[in-house]
This record gives sequence, C-alpha cells and structure tokens, in this order.
Amino acid sequence: METVVVPGPACPSLGPRVAQALRCPAAKVSHRAFPDGESYVRIETPLAGKHAVVVHSTGTALDLIALLQLADAAREAGRLTLVVPYFGYARQDRPFNPGEPVSARVVAEAIRAHEVILVNVHSPATLKFFKVPARSLDASPLLGEAIGGAGLKKLLLVAPDDGAEHLVRGAAGACGADRDVLEKKRVSDTRVEITPKKVPAAGRDVVIVDDMVTTGGTIAEAAKLLKKQGASSVSVACVHPVLTPGAREKLQAAGIKEFIATDTLDRPEGRVTVAGLVAGAVAGKA
Ligand code: R5P
Repeated sequence: METVVVPGPACPSLGPRVAQALRCPAAKVSHRAFPDGESYVRIETPLAGKHAVVVHSTGTALDLIALLQLADAAREAGRLTLVVPYFGYARQDRPFNPGEPVSARVVAEAIRAHEVILVNVHSPATLKFFKVPARSLDASPLLGEAIGGAGLKKLLLVAPDDGAEHLVRGAAGACGADRDVLEKKRVSDTRVEITPKKVPAAGRDVVIVDDMVTTGGTIAEAAKLLKKQGASSVSVACVHPVLTPGAREKLQAAGIKEFIATDTLDRPEGRVTVAGLVAGAVAGKA
C-alpha cells in the first residue's frame, strides 16, 4: 500500500521531514481559522487505498480539534496512522483531586485510527486509554547525541525528578556521560522547589534532561541550585519545547548555556529532529 504523509498544521516542518525519511510523498493540507476562531482543515491529496500517516502535535486545544478533523478527513485511507509527536493533556492521567477528569483518557478515547504513535508521552499509563494500538517512541538517545556534540566538558546529566530518570538514562547512554536525579516539589502551578539527591555538580558542565519545558520554572530552580553547587555551566535538553510566554526569558535569566530540544513542537529551538525515529516506527523498524 502506498504511504502518504499528511503534515498537520502543528508540524509544518516535521511532517515533510518524516515524508523525506520515508521517501514518500507529503499530502497538500490547507488550514485556516473561520472568523469565529473555529478550525478549518482540508487534505487536498486523495488518500483512498493509501496508508495515510498524519503527523500533528496537540499543544493547544485548537490543535487537538485539528487532529480530530484530520483523522476524519483521512477516513477514506486504506490505513490510518496518527503520529502525535507531542500529545497534550497527558499530564492529567489520573484525578489528583476529587471531581477532576482524567483528561488524557478523554483525549485518547476521542481518537480513531488504525494505529497511534506518540513520542515520549508524559506518562506511559496514557497508552492504555487508547481504543486502538498506541505506542510511545523514546527520543532521549537523540538528545544524548546532540548533548555529546555540543562541546560541553566533564558532562553530568541530571533529571529534575524521578519521572525523568529514564530520559537521563537514555541520553547519558548515548553520549557516555555521568547522570543523577534531583528531587522536585511542586508548590503551585508556576512554582517548584528542588532539593538534591546526590549531585556532584562542582566543576561540571551540567545538562538537565526533561520530557518538556513549559513555563521554565523547573529548569530555572534546578539551574539556581546546580550553580550554587559550583556547576561550571547549566544547559537543558528536552523532548518537547512547549515554552509558554515568558519561559524563554526565565531560561535566559537563569543563565542557561545551551537549550537542546526536538521538533515535536514547531519551535525555533527544536533542532534535533525525531523524523528518522518516527519514520522507523511507521515503517515497522522500531
Ligand atoms: C512535569 O512533571 C514535567 O516532566 C516537566 O518537569 C514540567 O512540565 C516542566 O514544567 P515547567 O517548565 O512549567 O516547570
């Protein structure tokens, strides 16, 4: 079956890169907003009898609507794979307080396709919410390769919490660096406090590795702590550069040396592409 990549409006660069990696055509997709803000999408390339691979992240509510629209517009395809490199709402994967929804489940259950492919979904528990086969790819070795090539010395990779330990392991494995974990306590939506486990940071170029950087609060706090401990420099590597307004300024104020991120979200910082990883999974090689 012929494969056609359908680049969604949230992945205008990654979509064509996946097509290139798969050596297959990319469909023409048009997208605009109606005057009242509602989303309009149209896949202009016929997909009947083809394997359609939609590539579209859901960093905003409108992007989520567009994903559902793209999946419906691609319904004539012989096979439909939805690649959602950044899967939003994944942090609410359980009710933390009575009366809260399981947002990750709400979103996962709304998705219809033959297969869903995510990249470093915040919590693997989310995968079981899908009604179709779903998996999450690991981009941490790609981050590790980029860290290894960044010219940093006496590398120490740290995870800001236990949840990111597997990412630090994957990245450190790829560049042969030492690693450790910090302990994080979230005080409010925008404020976190960090205490060290055992971080011999003095005289090291430290790289904090996390799945996403949103407000930059976690990184700014961790950087402060690591610098107090004598780190030569503090850099960041993340899979998903969400970067809400003010985050870049916060990172700059924290004196972050390098910001390494993938292109799961369309940001200028996303210079490490996950195209090859995604293409391998679509082609059944990962
Ligand atoms: C949380 O568990 C995530 O792994 C990230 O650490 C968090 O989302 C980063 O958020 P922020 O940049 O707002 O501190």
